[in-house]
Amino acid sequence: MSQASEAAKAVPVARERVRVFDTTLRDGEQAPGFSMSRAQKLRMAQALADLGVDVIEAGFPQASEGDFESVRAVATEIRGPVICGLARAQFGDIEAVARATETAERARIHIFLATSPIHRRHKLDMSREQVLETAVRAVRRARELCEDVEFSAEDAIRTEPEFLIEVLSAVIEAGASVVNVPDTVGYATPEEIGSLFARLRREVRGIDQVILSAHCHDDLGLAVANSLAALAAGARQVECTIGGIGERAGNAALEEVVMALRTRGELFRLDTAIRTPLLYPTARLLADVVGAAIPRNKAIVGENAFAHESGIHQHGMLKHRETYEIMRPEDVGFSRTQLVLGKHSGKHALRDRLASLGHEFDDERLSELFTRFKALADKKREVFDSDLDALALGLDPDAVGPWKLQHLHATTHLGNGASASVKLKHSDGRLCAEAALGDGPVHAVLRAITRAAGMALDIDDFQIRSLSNGADAQGRAMLTVQHNGRELCGRGVSTDIVEAAAQAALEVVNRIERLNLGQATLPIAANQA
Ligand code: KIV
Ligand code: ZN
Repeated sequence: MSQASEAAKAVPVARERVRVFDTTLRDGEQAPGFSMSRAQKLRMAQALADLGVDVIEAGFPQASEGDFESVRAVATEIRGPVICGLARAQFGDIEAVARATETAERARIHIFLATSPIHRRHKLDMSREQVLETAVRAVRRARELCEDVEFSAEDAIRTEPEFLIEVLSAVIEAGASVVNVPDTVGYATPEEIGSLFARLRREVRGIDQVILSAHCHDDLGLAVANSLAALAAGARQVECTIGGIGERAGNAALEEVVMALRTRGELFRLDTAIRTPLLYPTARLLADVVGAAIPRNKAIVGENAFAHESGIHQHGMLKHRETYEIMRPEDVGFSRTQLVLGKHSGKHALRDRLASLGHEFDDERLSELFTRFKALADKKREVFDSDLDALALGLDPDAVGPWKLQHLHATTHLGNGASASVKLKHSDGRLCAEAALGDGPVHAVLRAITRAAGMALDIDDFQIRSLSNGADAQGRAMLTVQHNGRELCGRGVSTDIVEAAAQAALEVVNRIERLNLGQATLPIAANQA
């Protein structure tokens, strides 16, 4: 090693801080299959705050009443990160964001306007001068309402660089505190992004007074590589989503960007405030909220990300972990081993394991969960993290009483439908037994339960999904019903899918009774379960 490189190694180089701007609830949520209700957004927003993101983009308030209310709820409830809302470069949108975020601890208005020739000509029908003037006017108006204003030059990557420099310089002069350079269509390569950001750092007037931001889409599978190239070239905010969900092929995956910066810290010399052991629990929560499984081979948070199957790899791992492992699974919230607990494990071990998976319970709930865990451990040879997650989800506080399932029996009559009998016990002491026929055992059980509880349900959707591996995996049932104009969901988790369906139906029935919503009016349609 030369003296110069020895000296360079000896002098500690200061690490700079990168702001993580999470847009799971806006760019992520607007993609098909990922929409979230207000309650779901709030749940995710709290998890993102716990994770340590700097900014939560909570939605696009002018897009709909529901979006406005979701942004408002996040702004009101969530403390820690800056809460941001998206606006077109129009006063109505900007004012809507200001209203929706007025209860936030710290708010940001995020304005976007396309700058590329193709968007100017075919979408906006605006000249360069008109785009420039509209952007400046919008930023000035936003600054009257909020101190923190971000401007995004939509389709920046396909914009003439001189014009992009002119627009960014002008919006900084008008008061923008963050300028974002999106690769809206996921077209760039890392080299191009790197040289563009380096040029912006040299030529945009006032760039040192603001934060330069990257927002990359994944149409060519380059969103994370492009985001890292932008950061290496001077960006200090990165826009991303959990699991990379987002428009079309999605956005840069937060967990990948963060772990690349951390694992290759000697290269990037950049830090984030992300609590990396919460990456996996947050990704699991998103999967649960939107009902879409994390692909097994997903980097950082997929089930296989730390599984070593081949004999050669296992041998290397046993000799020295770093032969095949560049990150420790526990650093991203995975347990080191997939086989966690068995039927001889105690309550403390269960509490610790659940806590490491991001589930905290008080003593009473833990005892209830422990009983269910023991029952599961008796039925299964191995209890995996995903089983524990499933148990914890089944312990939703909303799922408790007044009705409890005491007995369930279902039989399928090949080619001739199915029958089921149930016995329910109410917290007031009533015991109700009912039997019903159905197209299949799930249908029969749902009918028997609703009859026993004296209700009829209008079922919108019913799904069963496997939550873990193997023939003895747990299944999760999700039942959605319409009830007096409201949508209600029930969930159930069991190794027996008929029992899972029964739990889901019971949760709905209980919710209706607890909310005192009265009886539903429509019977279960024969083909709906
Ligand atoms: O991809 C994009 O250009 C956007 C902007 C609104 C930032 O999502
Ligand atoms: Zn985007």
